[in-house]
Amino acid sequence: MSTAAEFSSLFSRNLRKNYPIAVRGEGSWIIAADGRRYLDASGQAAVVSIGHGVAEIGRAMAEQSNQIAFAHTSQFHSAPAEKLAARVLAIAPRNFHNGGRVYFTSGGSEATETAIKLVRQYFLETKQPGRYRVVSRKQSYHGSTLGAMSVSGNIARRAPYAPMIPEWGHVSPCFCYHCPFGKTYPECSLACADDLDVFLRNNDASSVAAFIFEPVVGATLGAVAAVDGYTARIAEICRKHGILLIADEVMSGMGRTGKPFAGQHWGLEPDIILTGKGIASGYAPLGAVLVAPHVAEAYEKGSAAFMHGFTYQSHPVSTAAGNAVFDYLEAHKLFERVTPAGEILRKALSAVEGHPNVGQVRGLGLLQAVEFVKDKSTREPFPKEAGIAEKIRQAALEKNVLTYPTQGCVDGMHGDHILLAPPFILTAQESQLIANAVKYALDKVFSA
Ligand SMILES: Cc1ncc(COP(=O)(O)O)c(C=O)c1O
Repeated sequence: MSTAAEFSSLFSRNLRKNYPIAVRGEGSWIIAADGRRYLDASGQAAVVSIGHGVAEIGRAMAEQSNQIAFAHTSQFHSAPAEKLAARVLAIAPRNFHNGGRVYFTSGGSEATETAIKLVRQYFLETKQPGRYRVVSRKQSYHGSTLGAMSVSGNIARRAPYAPMIPEWGHVSPCFCYHCPFGKTYPECSLACADDLDVFLRNNDASSVAAFIFEPVVGATLGAVAAVDGYTARIAEICRKHGILLIADEVMSGMGRTGKPFAGQHWGLEPDIILTGKGIASGYAPLGAVLVAPHVAEAYEKGSAAFMHGFTYQSHPVSTAAGNAVFDYLEAHKLFERVTPAGEILRKALSAVEGHPNVGQVRGLGLLQAVEFVKDKSTREPFPKEAGIAEKIRQAALEKNVLTYPTQGCVDGMHGDHILLAPPFILTAQESQLIANAVKYALDKVFSA
């Protein structure tokens, strides 16, 4: 049994585990202090888009830091923040183009917190003070702070803090493989989208400010994309009830699914978009809240002052990193690379699709997942205690491949999958290494 690492002064994620020290990154690889090389098949947590160790990002950050590292947003704006805001809005859906605004945070959870407060104050500005609840979906994740937890539907991550977080309502996810209604698309007529309408009609819609969802659910369901028609129906229901629509693209945004924002696969025009992770590819802590013009305008015509703030919002060095990452994505045409690289990975993974314990290989672009089932024909999951996702992760690690395991996709407790979200520079050879490691893990875990 492993014991607490004696040398560590860090309050680590698991005090019983020893963590290797990462010392260097090269493309899709992380090199540890002992020289071991890991293939980063999950982009850590779907963060790393341009790859590790790109020297010009560090140079751009150093240059900004030498010029001016910090200026408080109550007194100054900075050129890199202004520039990045304009660039992010330019790749956002059309409804953000004329008069949209961006609020930069230090990560995804802060972006969710900001959005929850922003929609609340929007309804104060527009003289509808009774609206404050933010409805969300089951099996979703929007961040680890208490406000973000209140809208998350990830049971395991919520459980310890349940007494401390409000329950504003969670509706069904859009998840055909384990349809919560036992229906089949398209005969279902999008019952999962209509679940929002049913919920609002039965639960005091007049107190609801917004609905938040992930157009492609990342960690919690494992790369589950909305079906055609779903996002349009959701947008229509929000409009009908006079509530704002927040698309959480912290994981799926900034090119990861083959479009700048995943909602663009379906022409979605939400009122607010959250992004993070890939926006600085892990080179700096950075998140963003994109605000549609009509929402910003309500503030402009009202108090103009958002009662919210972080010391490090719109940080000059973090936004300089964001710009340098953007330059790199453009110079190397990496957004365009995601769809073909995703197809190559998917093809490599097709070798494991027939395995009796692989339920589904799914995803969009370079946000993919493999779900493991006890019974392929009934899609029955393994018992939670079997810890299948973690066992697969450990076995793949023997082949030096890093994956992101999660449990709970079926009902919040059961269901095992690993998420694969590699850097956009992944080569065909590296895709094959990932597929080989998954195959090795399946053989190891299920032959016992
Ligand atoms: C969809 C989604 N929203 C929000 C978050 C929270 O972001 P962060 O961990 O940067 O605070 C995450 C993180 O995994 C996420 O996947």
